[in-house]
Amino acid sequence: MSIHKTEFLPVSLNITGKKILIIGAGKVALQKARSLSRFEVSISVLGTEIHPDFNQSDNIQIIKKEYEPEDLGGHYLIYACTNNPGINQKIKEDSYQRNILVSIADAPQTGDFVSPAIYKNENVTVAVGSNGKNPSKSVKIRNLIRDHLNIESDQIRIKKDAATTYNRNKDSPPLHQEIANKKGKVILAGFGPGDPGLLTLKSNQYLEEADFIFHDALLDVSYLDRFKAQKIPVGKRCGQHYKKQEEINEMLLEAAFTGKNVVRLKGGDPFVFGRGGEEVAFLNQHQVDVEVIPGITSAFAAAAQFGIPLTQREVSSSLAFLVGHNLSTRPFPKADTLVFYMGAKHQCELSQALIEEGWDKSTPVALLSNISNTSSKAVITQLDKLCKEKGAIETPLLIIVGETIRSISDLTESAPEKAAKKAGEPVSL
Ligand SMILES: C[S@@+](CC[C@H](N)C(=O)[O-])C[C@H]1O[C@@H](n2cnc3c(N)ncnc32)[C@H](O)[C@@H]1O
Repeated sequence: MSIHKTEFLPVSLNITGKKILIIGAGKVALQKARSLSRFEVSISVLGTEIHPDFNQSDNIQIIKKEYEPEDLGGHYLIYACTNNPGINQKIKEDSYQRNILVSIADAPQTGDFVSPAIYKNENVTVAVGSNGKNPSKSVKIRNLIRDHLNIESDQIRIKKDAATTYNRNKDSPPLHQEIANKKGKVILAGFGPGDPGLLTLKSNQYLEEADFIFHDALLDVSYLDRFKAQKIPVGKRCGQHYKKQEEINEMLLEAAFTGKNVVRLKGGDPFVFGRGGEEVAFLNQHQVDVEVIPGITSAFAAAAQFGIPLTQREVSSSLAFLVGHNLSTRPFPKADTLVFYMGAKHQCELSQALIEEGWDKSTPVALLSNISNTSSKAVITQLDKLCKEKGAIETPLLIIVGETIRSISDLTESAPEKAAKKAGEPVSL
């Protein structure tokens, strides 16, 4: 017996003015209709129970009735989206008899076509498919491409704005000099570790007034939706940099030259392992003013969330913040409590290096991830077991080392979840 692997050929169909029928009127049908309504097509949705979010709009016709094969006539594409697999299969057979292409929501690989994750702007359409196997992965890849394209077009728009704001002739001094003498300011603000409740009122005010927000891959990016500014993601996600630091610097400069309100928003505090200093130096070099608004660094948020005092009489009278990589090149500062940022991949080296430097093997270590977010996790271990715990919880991850960790009063398994739930409670600003 030969086993056939289902394969789909990506094509772009000309569907302008075509009639499309969605059978079923629930949540899945709603998503399909919304996705299709970006195109110039006539969409009919047919079902007995209509999802309340369906709006009778210009190009969506809602028909409340049971499916009958005659409904298929005259349509170019069919989407079988009922919650009854038997009916979906029947729709498939009826469509085959009429030579109409059909997509089956609950069994995508048995249909004629699958819907890719789509991003569309006026110049380009991006479609990402997974042969119907992994739609959420397609969406993730589509989002990465979309964000990348948005950055490119934002860059072009910002450049255009800069050029039109300042009318130059050929003999003028370089753009940077000429414009910076006139105006340009960037607000470098800290967002805190993720929970918008930890954002300062001052930063929030600047965000409200901003025309451009250049932001890191914050834990709660959706919070920015409320601001009118153009949002430009320039952070690091899943190990991938959207932009090199030099490119970010240039983008900030161009944006400042437009004379509009520019906020550079960073996770935590901009001056704690945030490369804020480099951005300030670069902008100042080009006569652009920078106002820095501090943010709550993840170490402070972690200490508060998990009840770990970073200093404590007779236990810890000194504290050091360190990067958790390139350990061989730097001696550890002499401090009672050490907080390692960006150390998740280097837990084994870190444990070994500290023990070699004389730290007791049983010194407690806290691994704290997604601080101030609803998905926070905590693992409490000790120095000689740190290597084994590598990968135990996801990033972003902060590592605290020191006797002060013994003060955690609530070490039950649900403690991090409880703390996270509190941290993630919505704030209204
Ligand atoms: C590039 S540094 C930025 C630090 C940031 N400026 C701050 O003040 O927290 C990124 C590192 O900060 C830590 N970090 C930032 N936010 C975090 C969070 N919500 N939960 C755990 N660790 C976090 C992690 O160690 C991560 O690898």
